[in-house]
Formats: sequence, structure tokens, C-alpha cells
Amino acid sequence: MTMTTGSEVRAIEAAAAPKRFARGWHCLGLADRFRDGKPHPVRAFGQKLVVFQSGDGRLNVLDAYCRHMGGDLSQGTVKGDEIACPFHDWRWGGDGRCKQIPYARRVPLRARTAAWPTLDQDGMLFVWNDPEGNPPREQETPPRIEGALDDGWTDWIWYETTVESNVREVIDNVADMAHFFYVHFNFPTYFKNIFEGHVAAQHMNGKAREDTRPHVEGTPRYLGNTSVAAYYGPSFMTDELTYKYEDMDIRTTLINCHYPIDESSFVLQYGIIVRKQAGLDEEAAMEVATTQAEYVKRGFEQDVEIWKNKARIDNPLLCEEDGPVYQLRRWYEQFYVDVADIRPEMVERFEYELDTTKPNEIWQKQVEENLAAQAAAADRAPVA
Ligand code: FES
Ligand SMILES: [Fe+2]
Repeated sequence: MTMTTGSEVRAIEAAAAPKRFARGWHCLGLADRFRDGKPHPVRAFGQKLVVFQSGDGRLNVLDAYCRHMGGDLSQGTVKGDEIACPFHDWRWGGDGRCKQIPYARRVPLRARTAAWPTLDQDGMLFVWNDPEGNPPREQETPPRIEGALDDGWTDWIWYETTVESNVREVIDNVADMAHFFYVHFNFPTYFKNIFEGHVAAQHMNGKAREDTRPHVEGTPRYLGNTSVAAYYGPSFMTDELTYKYEDMDIRTTLINCHYPIDESSFVLQYGIIVRKQAGLDEEAAMEVATTQAEYVKRGFEQDVEIWKNKARIDNPLLCEEDGPVYQLRRWYEQFYVDVADIRPEMVERFEYELDTTKPNEIWQKQVEENLAAQAAAADRAPVA
């Protein structure tokens, strides 16, 4: 037996994941979840936070640990506009200031804790993370979502799951065309990336695959989908995803977002709203949405299975038919450096359309082989 060793072998390089967390808006989930008058603990950015709704209706995010003697505010109680610490009842406002100490004559000067800028928009709660401590960058406000909280569309169907991996794995998906065929059983026919400023977009069209999603007799035939997806900042992606059936198009908006718990785990969230078709009542529309949400959920579970088991790799070995992973990572780096250190190549416009000719030819053949194998297996199967 021979073994290849030494310089012939490509080595996987991987520096430790950064301890620093990305600057930018991060969605913590559907805002309604936090509107029950109780404090909610959230582990994010290597810290523990507390989210609470004050009496004025605002959602607030503070560091969970009380500056008095370290009590955990997420175990406390909301009293009026403040969160009261369970240890000695100090009252903290959403702006981070201690407003009252019930047993004291006055509040000490500079009694202030870390407050996180929040944004309550389109049914979602966002926090701004910034290692430099600056206010949110105006141009990076998350985009408004067409159809969110709109009667012509369904409510959010939202999922949340914890993944034991570094967040960079999720981002890589933006440039990774081939995995859509092998992991998600899609068939991309068009694939283009555009990175510019704080936005990284992926335009993708795909066609139906009869081998992985066979047409059910008597139902409208699925033809394929078009998708325009973009990250706005380091963690919040919107995807205008249209499923094309022979009798109609189903328009959906998908959100794919995450926030880091620490450098080796993150909370992955995805949500979907579906435009109600003419002639569909509420219930029927919700059923369509639930069906699409199931596809989406399966897709994310497929990714998670890969991420859970794969190695971190700083030097992916790419072929011509792969997307611009390195350029994407360069774009992503802008969120991990101080604003003053953002280099032009991190934010300059970059456009790349993949030539899908060769992969499509091979995938078509693969699909036909799979169908033939399935037909042969069905022939052999005993008739029940
Ligand atoms: S530790 Fe919070 S009030 Fe004392
Ligand atoms: Fe994926």
C-alpha cells in the first residue's frame, strides 16, 4: 500500500474562529415573543442579555448582569418602565440607566449598564452589536419586508434552532451553487452573486427535479423557482422566493438570520410569509404557507447536518464551477474590523455569474440515472 504524504497533499488550514463578533443588526426573533411582560434571557455575542418590554411598549435589551452586585436581571421583574433586579430591587431603564433604588436616598452617579440599540420592525426584534460601541450605521438599517404584517400575506411561520458551529458556515452558502444540488436536491440553472457595501446578494433560478420531488398525479406540476436573496449586514438575509407551478406562482418571502451565542455556536432562525392567492381563504393560504415552510425547514436541516460535521476551512480548494467563496469572505470581513479599517476591496461592487452549462449537463444526466434506478427498483419491488 502506498500513502501520499508531504507536499503532495493539500492541507486544510483553519485559524481559530474570531473571538470578536460581527458589527451590525442581528435579529433576535419575532418581537411578539418578548411582549409578555416578562424578562427574557438571551445568550448572544458571548454574553448574557435580558430582553424586556417596558410599560411604554418598547422592547429593550440590556446586559443581563446587574451592576450592583451581579444579580441576573433576566430572573427579575418588569416594574413600570424598568426591569427590577431580583437581588436588591434596583431598577434599570431601557436606556441602561439605574432609575431608582427603592431603599436608598439616591442613585449613585454613573450607575449605568450596557444597553443595546434595538429596532422593532416588521414583527422582528433586532439588536445592534458593535464592538466599538458606536451607534447603528444609518445605511445599514434592515430593509422593510414587503408583505410583513400585511393582510394580503400570511403571518410569519418562524423556526429557531441552535447550531454548534461558527457563523461563517452559514454565510458561505451565498456563493455555494453546487451544494444546492447535492444537499438540497435543487437544480440551479442560473446563479449570480453581487456584493456591494454591506449587501451580499445571490440570484438563483432552479428547475424541478423529478427524481427528488416526484410529481403527484392530479396535483399541479412544480416547474421550478426563482430566488433573489441578499444579506443586509452580517446576519440578516431576505429571500424573495417564488415557486412556479403550472397553474400559478406562489410568492414567498423568506428570512434567514442568525446571531452568535459565542464563537462556536449560534442560533439559526428562518421565517416565511406567503402571499395569499386570489380566491384562497385564510385557512387555505395558511396551508400553502405551512407546506412551503416545511420545504424550507427541511432545507435548513440539510445544511445544519453538514455544518455539524464539517471542518472549519480557511483555504477551500475550489474548481471553476464553484462560486466566489473567497470574495464573499472578504466582503464578510468588513463586519469584523473597526470601521476605520474597512478596506475598499471589502465593500467594492463585485459581480460574478457562474457558467452553469457544465454542471447542468452533468446534473441532467444524474437525474435521468436516478429516475432509471428508481423505475428499476419499483419493477423489482413485490406488489403489495
Ligand atoms: S445585584 Fe442587582 S440589585 Fe443588587
Ligand atoms: Fe444551504
